[in-house]
Amino acid sequence: MFLSVQFTILALQLANVLAVALNPYDSLAGLTRDEVDAFARTVKVVGGQPAPAPIADTSMKLVNDAAHPWMPLTADQQRGPCPGLNALASHGWLPRSGVATPGEIVTAVQNGFNMEYNRALLVTYAAFLVNGNLLTNLMSIGGISRLTGPAPPAPALASGLNTHGTFEGDASLSRSDAALGDNHSFNETLFQQIIDISNKVGGGRYNVSAAAEVRFQRFQQSVAENPGFFFSTPRFNTAFIETVFPIVFFIDGRSTDPGLDLDVMRDFFQNSRMPPDFHRRGTPSGGSDEELDFVMAAHDYVPGFNNGTVNSFTFDPNFMGTQTDTLCALYEKFVNTTMELYPSPQGDLRDAINTNLDNFFIPVSTRCTQIFPFP
Ligand code: HEM
Repeated sequence: MFLSVQFTILALQLANVLAVALNPYDSLAGLTRDEVDAFARTVKVVGGQPAPAPIADTSMKLVNDAAHPWMPLTADQQRGPCPGLNALASHGWLPRSGVATPGEIVTAVQNGFNMEYNRALLVTYAAFLVNGNLLTNLMSIGGISRLTGPAPPAPALASGLNTHGTFEGDASLSRSDAALGDNHSFNETLFQQIIDISNKVGGGRYNVSAAAEVRFQRFQQSVAENPGFFFSTPRFNTAFIETVFPIVFFIDGRSTDPGLDLDVMRDFFQNSRMPPDFHRRGTPSGGSDEELDFVMAAHDYVPGFNNGTVNSFTFDPNFMGTQTDTLCALYEKFVNTTMELYPSPQGDLRDAINTNLDNFFIPVSTRCTQIFPFP
């Protein structure tokens, strides 16, 4: 009895010490379940929230408006590998801090760019499950930030979109492979390649022909330079659609030009800035239209990876997982990664993961069978 009272006092003291000693961004790796719980009690646990409803008005409209002016970055604000989310944050469609809830991201990509609702759900909840903080319901669109609050214990990452390997991947258009340099900042050398190719095959604009050749060039470069180059699920899917996003979303909604002006493209990619008077497109799009088919068909691609040495690119026979439909394979991949990051979640964390897994399933529910890793 006495011993157990003593133990309780000790445990309380430990909880107090932890509450004081740990910074919100410190890893909780190696702590026991009780220690983690004691720490979690010192922060606000928001947990999973229902996905927001689609926006009602999907007409073309001015989005670089008086209420959403571009502002330069301050030292504590996060920007990362996604020019779309960066611009939304720098115009105040997302919190300018670059730290947002998944619901805020789903609504902002619709409001700012007219991204189609289901695509917004799919991309956002995929990223949030693997890079967000499921306890505080916040994600950094860039690097690790104290604003997202204390993370669940390792192997959970909760370290933002800059995190390599779960969502962010190799052979990006304007960012280096993580193994070769900075995977999230604008890279001038790579952007010059985009300019050169657009001048050669796009008539001085970034159009589908340019997108197809930039995609292929970046693929070939990673095969030749990155021994650990990974280009299978999910990267095999995201790498193609991202090449057409600038054409689909960064061209002014009033324009009939099928190509993107390169200065406008640079301002989005380098400065997170929309052009003056920018209008979003007039119809919702997921970005997976004829442009995507064109880019994928322009060269021969297979999902795969380098085997630890350059130029060893090998087909990945497991790229479909247990699925026969590519979208369901993508869904399964993110569920599996979530399970790897959260081997045995309990309590609030388990509830939050399940809510976000439900949200992630919404956009694929007509095609795929739901997976319940934590029933
Ligand atoms: C819906 C939520 C979104 C999330 C969570 C997200 C996340 C990301 C991430 C993690 C990357 C880096 C992938 C890589 O290259 O390794 C990326 C790239 C990219 N994203 Fe987004 N994104 C979202 C929406 C958008 C939107 C609405 C646009 C356009 C308006 C956009 C445009 C792009 C482009 C063009 C790239 C490629 C950048 C490059 O390869 O240099 N994204 N996004």
